[in-house]
Amino acid sequence: MKVRKAIITAAGWGTRFLPVTRSQPKEMLPLVNRPLIQYAVEEAINSGIEQVILITAMGKHAIEDYFDRSFELEYVLEQKGETELLQEMRRLSNLVNICYIRQKEQLGLGHAVLIARDIIADEPFAVLLPDDIIDSRVPALKQMIEVYEQRGTSVIAVERVSPQDTVKYGIIEPKEISHRLYQVLSLAEKPEPQEAPSDLGIVGRYILVPEIFDALAATPPGRIKEIQLTDALQRLLKQQVISACEFEGVRYDTGTPSGWLEATIALALKDPDIGPGLRQYLRRLL
Ligand code: UTP
Repeated sequence: MKVRKAIITAAGWGTRFLPVTRSQPKEMLPLVNRPLIQYAVEEAINSGIEQVILITAMGKHAIEDYFDRSFELEYVLEQKGETELLQEMRRLSNLVNICYIRQKEQLGLGHAVLIARDIIADEPFAVLLPDDIIDSRVPALKQMIEVYEQRGTSVIAVERVSPQDTVKYGIIEPKEISHRLYQVLSLAEKPEPQEAPSDLGIVGRYILVPEIFDALAATPPGRIKEIQLTDALQRLLKQQVISACEFEGVRYDTGTPSGWLEATIALALKDPDIGPGLRQYLRRLL
C-alpha cells in the first residue's frame, strides 16, 4: 500500500528554545528565508505525500495562518504589481492538502501521533519532526518510503552519533541487511555510551504501519508523563520486523539555538543569492 499521508508533529513546548518560544512557535523560526515548518511540508510533498496532518497546540495558530490563503495580502501585492511575490504567496496556500489537529495536552510525541489515528485509518503513514531538518539530494523521507516499498515494514531513520551523544537519542541494536539498511533487533532509550547497543541514533523521520496505534494505545506514560513513540516501537517489535534506514544527507537539530544557527549558516552558504556575500563576511569576522 502506498504511503500517502504524513503526520508532522508541532505541538511541543520547545523548552530548549526558551524564551523565544514563550510567544512564538519554534516551527515558525526562519531558516534562511522559509520557516522551519515549510521544510518539513515540502520534504513530505517531494516524497510523494498527498495529505499532511499537522499536530498543533495552543499558541501555534501562526502555523495555520502561514499555509492559509490571505486575500488581503494578495490584493495589496496585486495593486503594487508584485506579480512574482503574488504567485509565490498563492503557491504557498496551495502546497498540499493539510488538516490540523490540536493536541490539548502535551502528553508526548507518541500521544501526538495517536490522536491522528482516525484520519490515518488503516494505512501506512509517515511521521516528520520538523525541528530535524535534513539537507539531502533525495529527500530523506523519500529514501525511507523506498525502503518501506522494498520491505513492507515500519522504517526508522537513523544516523551515526558520537559516543557522548547516545544519552540524547533512542539507539538501535542493528542487524545489517545491506548498505545503510538494518533490521532493528532492539531499541534503547537514551542509553549511557557503555550501554548503547550501537552508535545508530534515531532521528525524526518514521514510516509506520497502522498496528503502531494499538501499540501506542497500550503504552503507559513513561518519563515525565509522556507517551513515548520509542516505547510503542519496542512493543511493536515483539510482533513485527522493524527496519532502519541510515539516510544519505546532513541532519540539523534546529530545536536548540546552536543547532538552528549551524543549519542557518550551512544552508545560507549554499544559497546562490546569499552564500557568496556571507562567505566573505564570515572570513572577515574570523
Ligand atoms: P521534543 O521532545 O523535541 O519536544 O519533541 P519539544 O517540545 O519540541 O522541544 P523541547 O525538547 O521542549 O525543547 C519532539 C517532537 O514531538 C512533538 C514536538 O513538537 C516535536 O516535533 N511533540 C512533543 C508534540 O507534538 N506533542 C508533545 O506532547 C510532545
